[in-house]
Amino acid sequence: MTDLLQVEDLAVTYGAAPAVSGISLTVPDRGTVALLGANGAGKSTVLKAIAGLVPKSAGRVRLMGEDMTATDTRHLVRMGVVYVPEGREIVPNLSVDENLVLGGFHLDGATRRRRRDMVLGIFTEIAGRAASPAWRLSGGEQQMLAIGRALMAGPRLLLLDEPSLGLAPLLVRRVFDRLSAIRAETGLAIVLVEQNFRMTVRVADIVHFLRSGRLLGQRNAAELRDPAAMEEAISAYLGSGAEAA
Ligand SMILES: Nc1ncnc2c1ncn2[C@@H]1O[C@H](COP(=O)(O)OP(=O)(O)OP(=O)(O)O)[C@@H](O)[C@H]1O
Ligand SMILES: [Mg+2]
Repeated sequence: MTDLLQVEDLAVTYGAAPAVSGISLTVPDRGTVALLGANGAGKSTVLKAIAGLVPKSAGRVRLMGEDMTATDTRHLVRMGVVYVPEGREIVPNLSVDENLVLGGFHLDGATRRRRRDMVLGIFTEIAGRAASPAWRLSGGEQQMLAIGRALMAGPRLLLLDEPSLGLAPLLVRRVFDRLSAIRAETGLAIVLVEQNFRMTVRVADIVHFLRSGRLLGQRNAAELRDPAAMEEAISAYLGSGAEAA
């Protein structure tokens, strides 16, 4: 089977200190691959490097076998690689609808309308609020809008940075349930960065453990649904300082 994404020996250096190095991972078509690690481990850096948002100091990124290492973000979005930043970054003063349009700026009107209907069909909570300014949405609804905006681009690979950040447990569950539905509906692949380990193993296929900028190992997510196995993986890969959420 061809992998959708292949990352080989990726490194990113901010200034003098390397933030991540020796990162190699693959994402199968329609797969969900998660990165788990403590604050500052380099999770966002890996996603941003794949999305072309930070320069790579070493390594290669291939999409469907094609070298994308030097491709810029705008082009990557057109190729279907879309990053959803942690902290959401929707435009608060624009309406829900206008935020969605931003995600599909490069599309023709008919495609844009079709995608918008698809997004609002998945995130029904925001469907009735299309004309409301985005700042009026709750945190969970803003997260749905951020993911919805990314879906407007028709991604093949969604790079999701801590979608549960700052959300109440019930909303986290809702966002993750929707993610599973999106995956079933659109068949896209996901690289998921999370600190919510329990939710992560529910939606992911493979989990990679990242510490101090390096990948230490990977496990099948299904194995880690057993709390004792998760406990054991956390102490093996993340050390005693890490906690399961
Ligand atoms: N723009 C930047 N300039 C300099 N250093 C940075 C920059 N962004 C991140 N770093 C550093 O790179 C390392 C990895 O940061 P990164 O944001 O990738 O971690 P993370 O795993 O996403 O953490 P968190 O869970 O807190 O979001 C950290 O040491 C961080 O301080
Ligand atoms: Mg981060």
